Amino acid sequence: MIVALALVLVGCAPEDTDPQECVHDPVLTYENFGEGFMTQYCVACHSSQLPDLVLRNDAPLGIDLDTYAMVLQWKERIKARSQYGIDAPMPPGGGPREAEFVVLQEWLACDAQDDWDQVYGGGAP
Ligand code: HEC
Repeated sequence: MIVALALVLVGCAPEDTDPQECVHDPVLTYENFGEGFMTQYCVACHSSQLPDLVLRNDAPLGIDLDTYAMVLQWKERIKARSQYGIDAPMPPGGGPREAEFVVLQEWLACDAQDDWDQVYGGGAP
């Protein structure tokens, strides 16, 4: 009798992706990633539609993330605050999985433009 042994790899950790490497094909965009992430994890508190601190769960007035222009405006702060495993992350209680934060950072690094003129034809929003 022949006994075949199968080796099964289970529980592989997510790849240690460098967010600076733009690995996604097609490339991540606001439309195919950013908007959905912001809507799911940020806009409940950071929306221009929410006029007071009670409705915003104390998210500061003016830090709104419900359009691409607004996200670009806060890009560096989003990069700093939305990482896995840091102190005082955004969203405050956590929520996104580590892999989702990695993709967010990749999107901010690879797609989200610094060049206002190119995106908006001039002038910060
Ligand atoms: C439950 C409400 C809530 C959610 C959801 C939330 N925030 Fe916040 N956010 C706050 C509060 C409250 C503050 C002010 C206190 C602080 O900075 O920790 C804040 C502050 C900020 C600031 C300004 C402070 C700084 O460090 O520059 C940024 C940027 C920010 N949030 C980004 C985000 C992003 C990006 C998401 C989604 C990934 C998010 N937030 C989700 C409540 C929220």
